[in-house]
Amino acid sequence: MSAFHREQVLSVKHWTDTLFSFTATRNSGFRFLNGQFAMIGLEVDGRPLLRAYSMASANHEEALEFFSIKVTDGPLTSRLQQIKEGDTILVGRKATGTLIADNLIAGKRLLLLSTGTGLAPFASLIKDPDIYDRFETIILVHGCRQVSELAYGEQLVATLSADELFGPLMAEQFIYYPTVTREPFRNRGRVTDLIASAQLFDDIGLPPLDLATDRIMLCGSPGMLEDLHVMLEQRGFVEGSHSEPGHFVIEKAFVER
Ligand code: A2P
Repeated sequence: MSAFHREQVLSVKHWTDTLFSFTATRNSGFRFLNGQFAMIGLEVDGRPLLRAYSMASANHEEALEFFSIKVTDGPLTSRLQQIKEGDTILVGRKATGTLIADNLIAGKRLLLLSTGTGLAPFASLIKDPDIYDRFETIILVHGCRQVSELAYGEQLVATLSADELFGPLMAEQFIYYPTVTREPFRNRGRVTDLIASAQLFDDIGLPPLDLATDRIMLCGSPGMLEDLHVMLEQRGFVEGSHSEPGHFVIEKAFVER
């Protein structure tokens, strides 16, 4: 049995020179937990060329969705960015990853902290009704260099907010906080600084980070993950895993492509 399924591309959307997303058919046997990733890619010269990608779709959705950067010389993304509706992609049969709700101990607020394409697993998680049962408040932070890089997340949140099922949940429980570092925007600054200074919490009108109530998922650039890891441990937060749930969990945004 092959290690992957062959799926058909259903749609492709280019957001910026460096970002695109696409949807594909989903084999009925492909199961995953929201927040997980799989190996996906293309057949190149008769061989599979695969990289880890978080599912941006939720596991109740019929199609798969992925959110990707484009790396000019990247072995995979230099090709993957050319895909068109009807093309074939490979999707690994096994999904895995640490950004799952069961790896966190119970809490009241869930902070989803991302930069760049690190948003992808959270796109899946905020479409999971279970998350709204487990937590009273869900705060999605997405940090990018430029305003244009926020577009995928902005559209996702707008679409979900207008959804019959999710709209009411989100109105009550969900806060979206996009932030930009290299040009003017209503929210400015790095995710790390916004948390350290409590500016994030001032802006959304909620109390600052609190070990008693807050659970955190991190996905983004290595520097951002490292800095937040240190900051959280200094404040007594313990990293969770499959073997032992904790206060926070980490996945790197997959960028070597
Ligand atoms: P900055 O513009 O200050 O470098 P990248 O495109 O390099 O992956 O960065 C995506 C976003 O993550 C940018 O807004 C960038 O801010 C921010 N970023 C980069 N490194 C860190 C870090 N160590 N902590 C927090 N944010 C970071």
